[in-house]
Amino acid sequence: MKLAISGKGGVGKTTLAALLAQVYADAGRDVLAVDADPSPCLAGALGFPPELRRKLTPIAEMDELIEERTGAKPGTTGGFFTINPRVDDLPERFSVIHRGVRLLEMGGVDLGGSGCICPESAMLKTLFTNLLFRDDEVLILDMYAGVEHLGRATVDFVDAMLIVVEPTRRSLGTAAQIKKLALDIGLTRLWLVGNKVQNTEEKVFLETESPLPLLGFLPSDNAVQEADRLGNAVYDYVPALREAAAAMAAALNQQLDTTRTEGTPS
Ligand SMILES: Nc1ncnc2c1ncn2[C@@H]1O[C@H](COP(=O)(O)OP(=O)(O)O)[C@@H](O)[C@H]1O
Ligand SMILES: [Mg+2]
Repeated sequence: MKLAISGKGGVGKTTLAALLAQVYADAGRDVLAVDADPSPCLAGALGFPPELRRKLTPIAEMDELIEERTGAKPGTTGGFFTINPRVDDLPERFSVIHRGVRLLEMGGVDLGGSGCICPESAMLKTLFTNLLFRDDEVLILDMYAGVEHLGRATVDFVDAMLIVVEPTRRSLGTAAQIKKLALDIGLTRLWLVGNKVQNTEEKVFLETESPLPLLGFLPSDNAVQEADRLGNAVYDYVPALREAAAAMAAALNQQLDTTRTEGTPS
């Protein structure tokens, strides 16, 4: 199963990605979690110990590797370089595993579209496509780049895109924009996740105003920030969020089963 998690900065994408990754891993599934943020923080949310985190370097920052594979130094434009470098060995080579979750840091991913034709974007684009083609049991993409850059492979291989929102009109506005961009490329398997929900009013607000089917809610909990400060996994430190994420994973399984039998929702 392949899940992409998107939404505006700060809404809780990384928190949700970490929770779901651990839910699936604890259910005995092999999970590959991919951090596509230029300042990666999924390792922290997953509670990876410091000695493992030190082993991680975002692929986008591996200048020598990028030059070796593409034939040109990162940052150069206009010269010749390979636009489909070899990347199939990278996920195993540069990831670390902790409690059943394999974590790979991609780094800032400009998946093209906006005009950058350079070795590092060729490398990351190829790697992104390669990840979608792999047959990992569960792939979780903690996204950063806007969905407008996502290509055909995303539509074909991503089982669900979860758009995280806070219970505000502004956040729902961003979600509606992401929905439009996703539909433009033909990606229709979209669900909304309400995060930082404080009370029933906020729940009802999201239920009535959501531009997409709601998969579930994560309560607002001060312990989330505390977990981050202490270097603990949100999954362990905040039971309310762990339980909500487990319920969400179950709901998603059900929804995907329904979608498979009844066709994609409109
Ligand atoms: N349910 C929640 N309750 C309280 N704080 C939260 C919750 N979810 C996320 N946060 C906090 O909000 C901030 C942004 O979360 P993060 O998951 O990093 O968002 P994103 O990846 O979308 O930028 C972090 O400081 C995090 O601790
Ligand atoms: Mg994040």
